[in-house]
Amino acid sequence: MRFYILSGAGLSADSGIPTFRDGGLWDEVSIEEVATHEAWLKSPAKVIAFFDARRQELARYQPNSMHKFLATLPNAVHLTQNVDDLCERAGGKPIHLHGKLTEIRCETCQKIYDIGYNPQPKKCKFCGSERLRPNVVLFGEMAPNYRHLYTIEADIFIAIGTSGAVIDIADIAQKYPISILIDPKRRKRVTMFGEFDEYIDEYFTHYIPKGAIAAIEDLQKLLKETYGSAHPATK
Ligand code: APR
Repeated sequence: MRFYILSGAGLSADSGIPTFRDGGLWDEVSIEEVATHEAWLKSPAKVIAFFDARRQELARYQPNSMHKFLATLPNAVHLTQNVDDLCERAGGKPIHLHGKLTEIRCETCQKIYDIGYNPQPKKCKFCGSERLRPNVVLFGEMAPNYRHLYTIEADIFIAIGTSGAVIDIADIAQKYPISILIDPKRRKRVTMFGEFDEYIDEYFTHYIPKGAIAAIEDLQKLLKETYGSAHPATK
């Protein structure tokens, strides 16, 4: 049985990292000032300071049991919108769709390297250029790893902790024979053309209306009912 997991900020919410919408980070800071390509061109120092702060905070958060559960799922491809490294610290190997907070990228030599939880250095360690930036995808920039979104071969699609405001998970869910949505809050489907009248969960085969950690038991039960107790994911 092959799994396709697509996660968002809600996966790390149970570890204490704020989500973005509904009282999350974007209610406190302005996207336009710190997280867009225009902001990067206009005032890079502000963008760097914002991501430096996020990176330093990241050191104090720990992976939760859902990060660990997902890391043990066999035959799984995990795409995450999260820029944190909690999946990796739980033993997983996700593909980051929006980049990674612990990495920086040199705009001169294009090298990407990990700086842990430290503030961004002034110069590239490879070429000495000062044109360094957080290796995250800002609003208005290309997200090259989106090429994976519609190409994963899987029997079961699991979307967890994402509002679907950026990636249309309802669209993806319809391409798989079984789909499971985990989110404590029901949400209307939204695309760039506006809001649909349907809830996202209506596009999924199963909906677990719980937070990430609380959903593990239900998820295991569901997998057991579907695939029997022999499957490693149900143990
Ligand atoms: N467990 C699971 N899901 C949760 C939990 C929890 N404990 N708490 C909240 N959620 C759900 C929310 O109900 C919401 O649907 O997680 C979702 C988080 O949605 P967003 O804040 O919109 O985050 P996300 O979907 O990851 O945002 C996508 O937008 O801001 C950009 O680049 C940023 O990667 C981010 C992208």
